[in-house]
Amino acid sequence: MSILVTGGAGYIGSHTSIALLKAGYSVIIADNFFNSRPEMIQKIEQLAGKKVIFYEVDVTNEQAVNQIFIHHQIDGIIHFAGLKAVGESVKKPLKYYYNNILSTLVLAKACHKYGVDKFVFSSSATVYGDNKVPFVETMDLLPTTNPYGETKVMSERILTDFGKVNPNFSVSLLRYFNPVGAHESGLIGEAPNGIPNNLMPYITQVAKGKLERLRIFGNDYPTVDGTGVRDYIHVMDLAEAHVAALEHLTPGVNIYNLGTGKGTSVLELVKAFEDANGITIPYEVVARRLGDIAECYADVSKAKRELGWEAKRDIVTMCRDAWRFERYYEE
Ligand code: NAD
Ligand code: UFG
Repeated sequence: MSILVTGGAGYIGSHTSIALLKAGYSVIIADNFFNSRPEMIQKIEQLAGKKVIFYEVDVTNEQAVNQIFIHHQIDGIIHFAGLKAVGESVKKPLKYYYNNILSTLVLAKACHKYGVDKFVFSSSATVYGDNKVPFVETMDLLPTTNPYGETKVMSERILTDFGKVNPNFSVSLLRYFNPVGAHESGLIGEAPNGIPNNLMPYITQVAKGKLERLRIFGNDYPTVDGTGVRDYIHVMDLAEAHVAALEHLTPGVNIYNLGTGKGTSVLELVKAFEDANGITIPYEVVARRLGDIAECYADVSKAKRELGWEAKRDIVTMCRDAWRFERYYEE
């Protein structure tokens, strides 16, 4: 089976491409390197021991995307390509709506035109808004606090409506919780541009001495120690979940939470990182970050029951692997 992986040079897409190649799939990557680098393609091939087909395209460009379908037999699509900086999406909403919605539309249209009926979409736990934890797939979605989140809600709706009139179309909406960590080789991982928005890359850059201290956004939440609680999931577990999702696609809409089901507070993550790597992370507590919720963790029973998948790597492994990558990474 041949899978078109959009955004395959990015953080989650690169790890997933390796998992797909190892599982015997052929992989065609389409990426415009907006938030990634060309050398990633060669690293994927090196780690998987197999070649990929690569297209440098913007997947909002319908003509360019159609060329891929004309030249290759494609059995399914995993659509990772998207912009993901929550704060930036508030400042530049049109950029986010344009890129994230148009890419989904272009790909859904290509499915229709070229008869592709398998689609896996990168959604986010953000679609649950400030619901009661643990988040369950059957919950009503609540408003998100930013355009990024809205693009995920809208893309889910577009794919769901498209599925309603195309009975053979099988779509998996995968709601990721907080992906962290890196491939165990340390060769690929999360390398955000500029100062990281997310907690784990911020911690690894403090560990490396690139940043002076972590700023913890609030310690007055109604949580175990007052700091925000999230469901961190190792990116390789997440990658493997995509293979399971592809293998269990059934016609209609399949929605799955991808997390561990366990909540970890900011302070607990800092402590786990320090213990796992023997490095002290200096921090200070500052005001809450606008738009943050207190707690976010998944009910993961559906993915286990229907996909036969569950996360295997613990928080210590996430911290070790994140640090192994950061330690040797050169910009
Ligand atoms: P990433 O930025 O590392 O990867 C995204 C890739 O898509 C990049 O290589 C980028 O160059 C590419 N891209 C973006 N727009 C494109 C376009 N128009 N055409 C072609 N390529 C394009 O991000 P990631 O962390 O790997 O996230 C992948 C997906 O998962 C995104 O859709 C993101 O919203 C979603 N997601 C991520 C998280 C997270 O915390 N990392 C959580 C929930 C959901
Ligand atoms: N945090 C800090 N200091 C930092 C960064 C984060 O204290 O420098 C705290 C946050 O307040 C939060 C926790 O660490 O309590 C996790 O924050 P992240 O920014 O790492 O992750 P979020 O849960 O805020 O957001 C992530 C993705 C979004 C996605 C969301 C829901 O960035 O794209 O998970 O899955 F929508």
